Amino acid sequence: MESRRRSLQAASGLLLALALLAPALEPAHADPEADRQQFLAVYAERFPGIPVRDYVYGALIASPDARAQYEQIMDFPPFLTEVDRGRALWEMPLADDSHLADCFPNAARGQAGRYPRLDADGASLMTFEMAINRCRERAGNVPWPYATGPMALATAYARGLSDAMLMDVSVQGTAALAHYERGKALFFRRMGPLNFACASCHLQNAGRILRTEILSPAIGQATHWPVFRGGETLTTLQGRYRRCMEQIRVVPFAPGSEEMNDLEYFHSYLSNGLPLQASVFRK
Ligand code: HEC
Repeated sequence: MESRRRSLQAASGLLLALALLAPALEPAHADPEADRQQFLAVYAERFPGIPVRDYVYGALIASPDARAQYEQIMDFPPFLTEVDRGRALWEMPLADDSHLADCFPNAARGQAGRYPRLDADGASLMTFEMAINRCRERAGNVPWPYATGPMALATAYARGLSDAMLMDVSVQGTAALAHYERGKALFFRRMGPLNFACASCHLQNAGRILRTEILSPAIGQATHWPVFRGGETLTTLQGRYRRCMEQIRVVPFAPGSEEMNDLEYFHSYLSNGLPLQASVFRK
């Protein structure tokens, strides 16, 4: 614990050097594309010579060995049976004999990268997982718990129906911007006893090593969920947010809460233009 605290403090010291960057990136009036460009400019310096499309590999971009090991694992992923279980859940007829695929355009192929998005009411945010639950409820089924169990398994398959599509999150209009801005504020909000924000690690200190791990850039992070940690532990994107919050000793927001969804909206927008690939290996 003590050593973790020390290394976190060391990382926090590094922040000072980059303090000048912060004002431009503080939440003000959101211009999503300008934000994305500013993140890209920071990472271009931090990861020189690495093409932006490689950011989807996260921490692996800075380590050729880890990347080679990743490619080897992904040739024969140890978690294919889990993805098959997810497919069975996805394809199971609902109470009214309809199917989850019926609720999405193109049977959900090439759709996951458009989420989160504004709901038809034009006000609330809808994640891919919420759309699945909405579909279940309409058909007379109970919704699945948000980010674990059957939902995580089903999305391990269903998000894969959008593999290779380019992230295409849209932020248009006042309501959308308000959600985006709240998500952005949360990303930059210093929280907990260690006073860390998501930005502290994944923007200002991206590319640096925290304990044994290289801190990945926020761009690319939203493209490849769920992941199988250690090849077996199924983790959703919001489950990962949760883990990072716990690491900085912040009581995490509940999966599917407005805070988590706003954060996912901002965070996913950052990855616009990058290819999706669901169900990948992570350490
Ligand atoms: C104290 C540093 C720290 C903070 C603060 C932090 N994280 Fe992380 N995060 C990590 C580390 C370490 C990893 C694992 C290595 C990596 O991928 O960066 C990680 C991984 C991730 C990943 C998975 C990346 C991948 O490709 O698998 C996501 C997504 C993520 N963090 C999002 C967030 C969000 C959102 C916040 C704010 C709520 C946050 N993190 C706050 C340290 C941090």
